[in-house]
Amino acid sequence: MSDALIITIDGPSGSGKGTISQRVAQALGLALLDSGALYRLVALCSIRQGVDLADVAALAAIARSLPVQFKPTGEGVEAFLEGESVGLAIRAEEVGLVASQVAAIPEVRKALLQRQRDFAEPPGLVADGRDMGTVVFPGAQVKIFLTASAEERANRRFNQLKQRGESVSLPRLLEDIQARDARDMNRQVSPLKPADDAIVIDSSQMGIDEVQDAILAVVDNRSPD
Ligand code: DC
Repeated sequence: MSDALIITIDGPSGSGKGTISQRVAQALGLALLDSGALYRLVALCSIRQGVDLADVAALAAIARSLPVQFKPTGEGVEAFLEGESVGLAIRAEEVGLVASQVAAIPEVRKALLQRQRDFAEPPGLVADGRDMGTVVFPGAQVKIFLTASAEERANRRFNQLKQRGESVSLPRLLEDIQARDARDMNRQVSPLKPADDAIVIDSSQMGIDEVQDAILAVVDNRSPD
């Protein structure tokens, strides 16, 4: 990993991490790790195989043997499970809900740890998640914690779903976001929190270009290794 530039971008759901990570990776010619997709893939497999969420050994086995392949697309990376494109399936609300439960299981996190570190190859990696800067890549040269108020994140999600023609309730979305935040921040293992040496960016009042510029400026101004 020594020759690879590692940029970690952590933060809560809806903070814009995914889009920003893609853009930063593209701007700098680096690979992209969407670590949330790994937890979503474990969730999808467990749902498909009918595995009980209390069956820790079976969930850890799924995490260890996940037959996933990530292929770069024009805009980012697409996940394939044994050749089947599952990019859309893993974004379903139900899968997200199960993902946040399997992500709280230490054995699942442990099983995914090395798999995530293996993405760190030269020239480098933008790693998007919750514990990229704290646990997976503690030695990363650049650590960003991207956040936004729960209200702003609920608004963004509301507009996104409305555009897709889905009818949703804004108060319900806000409740869901707050519940997921609480689960991600209060779990025993790898809770969502900024690394001590992370730069915190609150995007509530910022456009996406502004956030991208702010992160690229941090990358440019990093201290020499
Ligand atoms: O970022 P996302 O919504 O795709 O993540 C799905 C779930 O996985 C979410 O509940 C948090 C969890 N997650 C995690 O615990 N650690 C990570 N590094 C990434 C995601």
